[in-house]
Amino acid sequence: MNWILEYAGWAGFTIFNVVGGFCGFRPQIMKPLSLALLLVLACFIGARRRRGQASDLDLGLVGYFALAALGFWLFPGFLGRIMSGYPVTTLYVVLVLVAAIPPLLGAAPFTTYYARKTAPEAVWETAPFKEINRHLTWFWVALFALNALVSLVPDLLPHLGWPWFFNYVLPTALFMGVGFPVNRWYPQYRQRRMGLRPASAAPVPEAANPGPAGLREVPREKKITATAKKEEGEVAARFKTVAVNGSPHEGFGNTSQMVAMLKEQLAKEDFDLEEIFLNKQHIEYCAGCGVCIEKGACWIRDDHKGVVQKLLEADAVILASPVYFRQVTAQMKTFLDRSLGYGHRPRGTWKPGLAVSVSAGWGETEVSQYLARMLGVYGAFPVGQLTAIGVGPGGFWGKEALEARAEDLARDLARAVKEKRLYPPTDQYLDYWHFMGSLIKENRDFMKADYEHWQKLGILESFEAYIGQSRTQGRRDPGMREAWLKELMERQRGRAVEAGPATEAQAAAANPGPPETVRGMMEAMPGALDREAAAGLRAIYQFEVSGAENFTACIRIDNGTAVFQEGPASQPDVIIRTPADVWLAVSKGELDGAAAFMTGKFQVEGDLGLLMKLKGLF
Ligand SMILES: Cc1cc2nc3c(=O)[nH]c(=O)nc-3n(C[C@H](O)[C@H](O)[C@H](O)COP(=O)(O)O)c2cc1C
Repeated sequence: MNWILEYAGWAGFTIFNVVGGFCGFRPQIMKPLSLALLLVLACFIGARRRRGQASDLDLGLVGYFALAALGFWLFPGFLGRIMSGYPVTTLYVVLVLVAAIPPLLGAAPFTTYYARKTAPEAVWETAPFKEINRHLTWFWVALFALNALVSLVPDLLPHLGWPWFFNYVLPTALFMGVGFPVNRWYPQYRQRRMGLRPASAAPVPEAANPGPAGLREVPREKKITATAKKEEGEVAARFKTVAVNGSPHEGFGNTSQMVAMLKEQLAKEDFDLEEIFLNKQHIEYCAGCGVCIEKGACWIRDDHKGVVQKLLEADAVILASPVYFRQVTAQMKTFLDRSLGYGHRPRGTWKPGLAVSVSAGWGETEVSQYLARMLGVYGAFPVGQLTAIGVGPGGFWGKEALEARAEDLARDLARAVKEKRLYPPTDQYLDYWHFMGSLIKENRDFMKADYEHWQKLGILESFEAYIGQSRTQGRRDPGMREAWLKELMERQRGRAVEAGPATEAQAAAANPGPPETVRGMMEAMPGALDREAAAGLRAIYQFEVSGAENFTACIRIDNGTAVFQEGPASQPDVIIRTPADVWLAVSKGELDGAAAFMTGKFQVEGDLGLLMKLKGLF
């Protein structure tokens, strides 16, 4: 049903043309028809547009019928003759204009409307998403213009005949044979060129079809079962895992034996595994010069870049090191230090990885956790960690259990690659994104390469774009929460009565009341956020509190979530400078906020509109 509504404008155009064709565009018939179509479509498409269900092209169709009505009723000499003589050409000219004008004026290109139907909201504001839609819109402008020219062929070259072919068949064939395939292919192609992973984990989805009646939307994503290489038709149809081993015991050490356990199972899953021994590579110490974060690449010429390249190209990666004094080996640490620039510039794509570590009984958990975190530097997330205690080469404790664990992990790794699985993000991702994003923003003059990279991927402002996953909106039912709390309190009071009269302290603990400090109140704000009211809002409120309390802190609101953050923000949207007692009185309703502001009891810098919104958010 929705599908029919979606194409009402195009149905109107078909009726207009078919009736016009039969009656030779006789004014007696076209006058009421064009007016009726204009009124019906203007009401219908206008209502859908208000609900966000109509595209710029639909508006263009309303414009087309406005031209037709004007032509047949008011200007039959010129416009009326154009509408009856060149109805198809006029349509394509109108489409060229509605497609070209918004991007020229800096507004969103029309394909954005279709792309948003299939793309997670998290990517809508990212630079790649916008760029792909800009490109696709210009492509469609060219296609509409071409169809306008094609529809003129019967008039320019009348001896060719076949007007219906040039007016309808060829333009439709161009849509089907060129327009829609490009729609499907280009977003994937462009993302690969940008170093992003298309489809599920990618920040940019396909744009859906913008075209006329009878044409489908691009399917969201198909679950892959074959390898990426198989899909692309390459001869080598196996997956590739690269394991970087920091042990000096090349091939015979315990770390190597654990990698071999993984390799055996991976082979059964169509995976080749290349083990790179850092000990055999020539990799110099990091000079700590910062050139990699300033210019985007390290200047030292040795084997480091080649090894990283292999990790970046692999389908899955493994970082492995034995414990040397509660840490990774010097070989591994040197390799990681030299990768600093890669850590500053996240890939914008995630692939599965594993961390492997072995000790003689002291530190393998710490080391494998460290390696698991370091996987992110090469665009990988940990599917798991393989740890062991080994005393002498091959002398593992619980070897059978270790082999079974290796088998499970290898299977998980293979499955994650084949199904393009992502694991849910963790506090560590959030922590890294907050830290690195602020660092890069604050030092953008020096960290030029990093800053440009984060901007290009659109991840500077959006954690969702960084992780390539969006956040579902939870449901908030204040009524249910209140009823639940009341019942809890009543039950607790019932128990307290059974146990005898409560002390004053117990009573206070059972009913803590509102926080008595501005800090306490701010810390409680994220929990009290009205998510619906904060949907779509992105703002940083900075509070500079003086008097009885003396601190600066922020509340960051990001599309239905809020976090309390100690200290100032790099770019707050609004700064509230207030004595502690004034803000406490405003919060408790003892002092009118607007009056307090007007009389200078507290000061505000930045977006006053956000200050007004504050009350409705918490
Ligand atoms: C310099 C050095 C430091 C080590 N430090 C530790 C340590 O802190 N904790 C521990 O349990 N084992 C330690 N070991 C033992 C190794 O972690 C253990 O023998 C491991 O199995 C070696 O793995 P590999 O054969 O893959 O190199 C150390 C070994 C060496 C040579």
